[in-house]
Amino acid sequence: MALALRIMSRLGIAAVTGVLLAGAFSAPGQAADPTPTVVGGTQAAQGEFPWMVRLSMGCGGAMYTEQIVLTAAHCVSGTGANTSITATYGVVDLQSTSAIKRTSKYVLQAPGYNGTGKDWALIQLASPITGASLLKLNTDIANDNGTFDIMGWGAATEGGGQQRYLLKARVPFVDDTTCKASGGSYSGLVVAEEICAAYPQGGTDTCQGDSGGPMTKVVNGVPVQIGIVSWGEGCARAGKPGVYTQVSNFAAAIKAAADSIGGTVPPGGCGKSFTNATDVAIPDNTTVTSSVAASGCTGNASGSATVAVDIKHTYRGDLVIRLIAPDGTSYLLEDFPNGDSADNVLKTYTVNLSSEVANGTWKLSVQDTASADTGKIDSWTLTV
Ligand code: ARG
Repeated sequence: MALALRIMSRLGIAAVTGVLLAGAFSAPGQAADPTPTVVGGTQAAQGEFPWMVRLSMGCGGAMYTEQIVLTAAHCVSGTGANTSITATYGVVDLQSTSAIKRTSKYVLQAPGYNGTGKDWALIQLASPITGASLLKLNTDIANDNGTFDIMGWGAATEGGGQQRYLLKARVPFVDDTTCKASGGSYSGLVVAEEICAAYPQGGTDTCQGDSGGPMTKVVNGVPVQIGIVSWGEGCARAGKPGVYTQVSNFAAAIKAAADSIGGTVPPGGCGKSFTNATDVAIPDNTTVTSSVAASGCTGNASGSATVAVDIKHTYRGDLVIRLIAPDGTSYLLEDFPNGDSADNVLKTYTVNLSSEVANGTWKLSVQDTASADTGKIDSWTLTV
């Protein structure tokens, strides 16, 4: 039973209609009450959590840049162009006519996400929300304690309906050891990637439909994002904490991913260049390689990656040039006609590497197919 619940809450915003904060709003009308007499959530004031976003698939999110919303990986179906999501910003009342809405254009799901940990994703909007309030990522694990703010339009009771008005609550940090010992699915807690929060007695929690929304804390007067609503067994149950993606662990990866989709580099690209300028001799009838180690990228290489080569050779018709990806896939860059008697290759090739993971060891392979003329790889630069 516990496992079934966990699978439900992990796979499924869609499968589970509800979502949100703890507590016990018993009827939608009560959510509008500024001082609800219930355990758990209360209504947030307009502007209290100005970065907060509602996503149309039934999740929350936070503005990370004017054009990128940070949410949960389990709220999206994968990485790629996506115009199916509507983001609603700037209101606590989802029916307000002053709501600012944007359609998605691209979704980047955390690389390596497989349902356990790594529960983060970026949604790039079709156009920026100029002047939007942005929520900073926590980059310091020392902040991962104390009391946190949680907020969302999800269910106000386990199994309950979604809310029209944004609800908020406060929950204390639960250490990894205690959280992991909470029975059932909690034994699978990925301690480096997940952070838990709840009162031991329960009663206050995020719930279905809050997923993807932020868990925050004010640090030196500035709100920072500590977590992303991820999962829990039921909602607000005693001894069953809410589990959140631990943002401090992913802040660098999230930033790199946002840079990769926000800049001029095509989606999936990293934009970094790697050069090997050590000479490699090209003897007759031999294949030689020169390597570069790409690092610091998130996700796949660019759909328009470039390979700039500087090869010295006395008869380039002898040469076949390939790029070998970290996984061994070979991309033919050029097979010069045997009769091409020109010297040297000083040329930049554009290659679609969007199906390749950017990080790793890439090789330039140069094959000499004849006798009599030789040369060297002088240098080459890969931009992924
Ligand atoms: N997975 C849920 C969602 O998709 C969020 C569950 C949070 N549960 C909890 N008990 N804190 O909305």
